[in-house]
Amino acid sequence: MIAQRAELTFKGNLRQRRHSWLRLTPAYSVQVVRQLLDGLDKSGRILDPFSGTGTTGLVCAERGLTCDLLELNPFLVWFAQVKTRNYTEAELAACWELAQAAATRTREHADAEQMWVPPIHHIERWWTPERLATLAGLFHELHGWRHGQQEPALDLALVAFCRVAIEWSNAAFNHQSMSFKDDAPTLFSTNEQGLITDAFLVNVRQIIGSAREQLPGRVTVRQGDSRHVSDIATGPYDGVITSPPYPNRMSYIRELRPYMYWLGYLNEAREAGDLDWEAIGGTWGVATSRLAQWTPNGVTVHHDGFESLVRQIAESSPLLANYVHRYFVDMANHLKSLSCVLAPGAQVFYIVGNSKFYDTVVPVEKIFESLMSQCGFSNTKSVLLRKRNSKKELYEFVVSGEWRKL
Ligand SMILES: C[S@@+](CC[C@H](N)C(=O)[O-])C[C@H]1O[C@@H](n2cnc3c(N)ncnc32)[C@H](O)[C@@H]1O
Repeated sequence: MIAQRAELTFKGNLRQRRHSWLRLTPAYSVQVVRQLLDGLDKSGRILDPFSGTGTTGLVCAERGLTCDLLELNPFLVWFAQVKTRNYTEAELAACWELAQAAATRTREHADAEQMWVPPIHHIERWWTPERLATLAGLFHELHGWRHGQQEPALDLALVAFCRVAIEWSNAAFNHQSMSFKDDAPTLFSTNEQGLITDAFLVNVRQIIGSAREQLPGRVTVRQGDSRHVSDIATGPYDGVITSPPYPNRMSYIRELRPYMYWLGYLNEAREAGDLDWEAIGGTWGVATSRLAQWTPNGVTVHHDGFESLVRQIAESSPLLANYVHRYFVDMANHLKSLSCVLAPGAQVFYIVGNSKFYDTVVPVEKIFESLMSQCGFSNTKSVLLRKRNSKKELYEFVVSGEWRKL
């Protein structure tokens, strides 16, 4: 029987120093990246065109490799930069000084003035008024500290802030994406302000501890749309290791919302929907209504049975049929533009999951193989990695191919 193998998901990263800084459900496992790098014929220069939290970049940096990361979401671009950068002792000391000063001032100036809180819809569902006031105080104090221009110190403290904000929220990550915990009634009234600021300092300490480790490799993170890789990256790359979005209606922005609002990457709900529309496989807010009008614009997905698969899904939902169709057109565009930045013989590895709409299983791995062949890759194959969840047909695969010049 094929096992779910939690160690091959983000869960396997939770004890891995820098890799554990922030949890993102679709982050893939450090182990998978290490194994793929071990198997590369030539690991000169690596690209991850859907880099998320920067797992590929960090593994490459730990091994002294050069790696470029591309990512659409500006918050993840910031986070991957912070996670893969080297820090001096002076910057780490400045971070600790900043964190301590912010925690102390937050405790001293409780409720002294109305602080800015992020414009999250129904923010009271996320945090109780007391918790929100403490977080707002901490955030205010962190940003009030400007002397010395130590941006790296502030960045590390903000990662700790994000961790505490989510730890003290009502969000529950017990599902593929997040939901809200029921409000648990507290028996005793506790001084949560002290607990939150203490938790913040504990997180800062942990982050500083792992940031001290010097990374021998070099990582560059760029923001952009990987449907047009050749506009953002020049290459030539010897290897691609990535986990692109799957056609499973998962919205990364939905899970990242609290961080993105606090750190100023989102200011209103419409922006989240717009970003999800740009994201491959996005399906949230305005993205849903735009899907209804979407057309493939002359791009054909060359895979036997693809048209009938789309028709079959359309019988139950024309909207979801458009969703699946658009996903593969986007991936076809991505692979085509990727081929412009690859070195001859470059090996590419895509970790993808299949999906199911009504009774139709979408063989994502097989369609990827066809798209790769269509774009000029040879030796394309897919290997089963793990079972995804309790649904019996859902699996994750490594789809690979080799770039040969046509
Ligand atoms: C499965 S996640 C990658 C997770 C990553 N391997 C990690 O360990 O954190 C897919 C990523 O692709 C990004 N993405 C979606 N559409 C994109 C596009 N058109 N261009 C670049 N990145 C995109 C999403 O924002 C998301 O972070």
